Amino acid sequence: MVFFKTLVVSALLTVARAALDISNPAGLMVGVARVDITPPVNPGWLPLDEYDHEKLYVRAIVFSNNNETAAIIGCDLSNIEELVYQDAAAQVAELLDIPVSNIILSSTHTHGASPAGIGLFFTSENYGYYEVPGAAVEAVKIAMSKMEPAMVGYNTGSAHPNANRDAISPVTGLWTEAVNLTAPADREVEVLTFVRPNGSAIASYTSYAMHPVASYLTGYTSADWPGAMMRWIEKAFPGDVVAIYSQQASGDVNPRWLRTTTNDLLSMRLANITGYDVDHETIEVAVRNRSLPIARADPVYIRQVFTQIEALGIIVAEEVIRVMGETNDWDSNPTIWSKQQNVSCPGRKRLDNSTYNRAGHPGVYNTTNVAPIQIRTGVLGIGDKILVTVGAEIYTRIGWRIKAMAPMLKTMLVTMSNGKAPSGYIPDTESWSHLTFEVLGSNLLPGSCAEDSISQSLTDLASEYKQRISNNTSQ
Ligand SMILES: *[C@@H]1O[C@H](CO)[C@@H](O)[C@H](O)[C@H]1NC(C)=O
Ligand SMILES: *[C@@H]1O[C@H](CO)[C@@H](O)[C@H](O)[C@H]1NC(C)=O
Ligand SMILES: *[C@@H]1O[C@H](CO)[C@@H](O)[C@H](O)[C@H]1NC(C)=O
Ligand SMILES: *[C@@H]1O[C@H](CO)[C@@H](O)[C@H](O)[C@H]1NC(C)=O
Ligand SMILES: *[C@@H]1O[C@H](CO)[C@@H](O)[C@H](O)[C@H]1NC(C)=O
Ligand SMILES: *[C@@H]1O[C@H](CO)[C@@H](O)[C@H](O)[C@H]1NC(C)=O
Ligand SMILES: *[C@@H]1O[C@H](CO)[C@@H](O)[C@H](O)[C@H]1NC(C)=O
Ligand SMILES: *[C@@H]1O[C@H](CO)[C@@H](O)[C@H](O)[C@H]1NC(C)=O
Ligand SMILES: *[C@@H]1O[C@H](CO)[C@@H](O)[C@H](O)[C@H]1NC(C)=O
Repeated sequence: MVFFKTLVVSALLTVARAALDISNPAGLMVGVARVDITPPVNPGWLPLDEYDHEKLYVRAIVFSNNNETAAIIGCDLSNIEELVYQDAAAQVAELLDIPVSNIILSSTHTHGASPAGIGLFFTSENYGYYEVPGAAVEAVKIAMSKMEPAMVGYNTGSAHPNANRDAISPVTGLWTEAVNLTAPADREVEVLTFVRPNGSAIASYTSYAMHPVASYLTGYTSADWPGAMMRWIEKAFPGDVVAIYSQQASGDVNPRWLRTTTNDLLSMRLANITGYDVDHETIEVAVRNRSLPIARADPVYIRQVFTQIEALGIIVAEEVIRVMGETNDWDSNPTIWSKQQNVSCPGRKRLDNSTYNRAGHPGVYNTTNVAPIQIRTGVLGIGDKILVTVGAEIYTRIGWRIKAMAPMLKTMLVTMSNGKAPSGYIPDTESWSHLTFEVLGSNLLPGSCAEDSISQSLTDLASEYKQRISNNTSQ
């Protein structure tokens, strides 16, 4: 009801504005596309072929107004290496004749984006590296062929299936990867929505903080819960709606439940399964260090994993759809502006072997003559909304700091986007003292540099944009 009333009002406003603004007869235009990049079927390890998240896609939302064009591209992949990002972004920028900063290219960070039978991170180059540029260009070309008049809106909600994953083991008393319900996790669901002038959905862009790790090491190809979420949204609406997902500040955040995945891995070693939860890290370590080869689990357990992935996806998707329906700040004539800049922080080089000390004990590092670490930050302004990007996996509190600092603009945070800094995880200042696998594996020198400079850089970019749009308005 709220949505319907809002729509009528916005539609009337749109007509009024279009009639007055002769320099912009068309207003905002948007086109969307989805390209399948699922690995070929492995005849020795057939997919279940029962769940939507068994397919991997590259999706694009291309939008333009006043001769400015931008593209949001999302990939069902674990990550996108810096050089792959640069290649893909350069090709898309050339195709659209826009600056690279007008593009947001991100991965969902699914840990199931590998051909069947192979574990993620088991090869030097993860699946999808060579597919990204071609698929991104193809998706953008299709989207460009489907541009139509649109309005953009932004709204937020919340979902609670995530939890902090830095915990102290009750058995060893050492830091480990396990659910910690007293440590922070951001529950905000951020949603940018594109609709037609009559209110029908064209696209949504969501960010939320939760590692897609339920499919990790199961040996099956999966887009994990973001894949389930995006397909649920896409199938909820008539027509070819495209839903894209990017990670928020999820460096220290997992799903609250990994029981089904733990039992799936247990079934590979033909262990007895009680049905209860078992410490996931204890079970995962043997598969991760390859002392236990990945094997096809009992189908009973992989179906439980995949059904849980579906459930996680649906829970977040339903919140996204609710939030889309309650969006009421529709803009059919947004300014489009972008800028990127790197921040630089001191680095370190790890000398001890993480296979033997993943977490719990201090690592050994060389800090002499280590090159500073560059981290790319960016802002894509769309009217009174900004998408702020970080090319790395940041911790919850850094995300909160960014949200708190960004000045008077509707701020959507997307991480693991626009390149991949050589930093590894980026813990917040307070979390450096925790001997977790993220902290030990980070190539940054512990301290406040990353938290301070990332949030300051994004604040500066946001302020510059805000100044620009207020100058335009006052002219
Ligand atoms: C868009 O570009 C065209 C061609 O360069 C130009 O004629 C037109 O004035 C521009 N419109 C706006 C709103 O900047
Ligand atoms: C959760 O994390 C906090 C630090 O953020 C730590 O003090 C606490 O011991 C942890 N709790 C558990 C159960 O691991
Ligand atoms: C809105 O417009 C689209 C495109 O013209 C059309 O396909 C759709 O049926 C319309 N929806 C409603 C609710 O009017
Ligand atoms: C599983 O349980 C059965 C019955 O208690 C027992 O005989 C068997 O040794 C157990 N197998 C393993 C791998 O623990
Ligand atoms: C791999 O993990 C298993 C199970 O924890 C352990 O017994 C083994 O020593 C580990 N191997 C290496 C190389 O770390
Ligand atoms: C760490 O140890 C494992 C197991 O012995 C070995 O395979 C790996 O190459 C080592 N990694 C490094 C960086 O030395
Ligand atoms: C640390 O790095 C410096 C500079 O590359 C090098 O000279 C030194 O040998 C390294 N120290 C260790 C312990 O590897
Ligand atoms: C910015 O940082 C990225 C990511 O680390 C790096 O690849 C790139 O070269 C840097 N750009 C500049 C201009 O320093
Ligand atoms: C906005 O206007 C002020 C005052 O004229 C000027 O100093 C500033 O550079 C302008 N900012 C931008 C981003 O155009």
